[in-house]
Amino acid sequence: MTLTTDSRVDHPVGSTAEYHAMLNRLSAGSVHKNFDPFTDIDWDAPEFAVTPNDPRWVLQKESDPIGSHSWYQAQPVEKQIEIGMWRQANVAKVGLQFENILIRGMMQYVFGTPNGSPEARYCTHEVIEECNHTMMFQEMVNRIGKDTPGMSPALRFIAQFIPLAGNTLPVIFFMGVLAGEEPIDHVQKAVLREDGVIHPIMKGVMGIHVAEEARHISFAHEFLRRRVPKMSKLGRFLASLMMPVIMRTLCDAIVIPPKQFWVEFDIPKQVRKDLFWSSPAARQSLRDYFADVRMLAHDSGLMNPVSKLVWKALKIDGKASRYRSEPARGLDIAA
Ligand SMILES: [Fe+2]
Ligand SMILES: [Fe+2]
Repeated sequence: MTLTTDSRVDHPVGSTAEYHAMLNRLSAGSVHKNFDPFTDIDWDAPEFAVTPNDPRWVLQKESDPIGSHSWYQAQPVEKQIEIGMWRQANVAKVGLQFENILIRGMMQYVFGTPNGSPEARYCTHEVIEECNHTMMFQEMVNRIGKDTPGMSPALRFIAQFIPLAGNTLPVIFFMGVLAGEEPIDHVQKAVLREDGVIHPIMKGVMGIHVAEEARHISFAHEFLRRRVPKMSKLGRFLASLMMPVIMRTLCDAIVIPPKQFWVEFDIPKQVRKDLFWSSPAARQSLRDYFADVRMLAHDSGLMNPVSKLVWKALKIDGKASRYRSEPARGLDIAA
């Protein structure tokens, strides 16, 4: 299994012909480099077994804010493992629920596309990949053995309506796609950098996911970069205000564990407050998730004096990336 991210597109797309060529390249990438969760992961291999008291489930401070908190680090290792397994199962569950919404919304979009549309073909490839991801994440949750709920009940209720935006408000819908994919990608890359410490299940699943998400994130960026400049002035202005709200709301929904987590492990309120998002380190992580999205907002005309205030009020302002996936450049804040 070879994992590459070379189908990622790092330059803005100009003409329609160039855009279609990019879509065809992404579609070819999907045909030639794709993964099957049940042939590319050897779930029954001995090293994949989930065994009690395995310290590889302890949350690492580099990739999970909970792992960095002194309260967590002061807990007995058995409790750290239990919290780690629950947390990682829940992140996978939220991820697959988010992908389920995305699949339904993208199919709504595809339903309205004309014959011969390169977007329709690429989106369908992406949906197939996302279906595989949902099976892969569900298998991981099942094997970890924690019955985690994923998103909060409110979001699970709203989830049935969000896909309708796929064809009625595609710009808003694809902003939502990015709002989920960017933080998940950010967190998973951080987990993979801890090679050797993490459980092989996490490594296998996330390696596949990060490789395929590169294409998806490229597409969502280019889709918005093309669509937004064609909107009316008023539409673009409203979209510029919606963008940071969507980013922050969905990020919280994905990254913050549901109420059950805090109750089950009797975690003090102050710990929750520190982690999401009062401590300086937590605030910085939150800002870092969206450096690429701020670049997109600048490039596509979605950053203006009023929207900047919204980014700032929601604490996700900061420097924009100069290119996609640029490593974070410190604490300087200048939206
Ligand atoms: Fe995915
Ligand atoms: Fe994706």
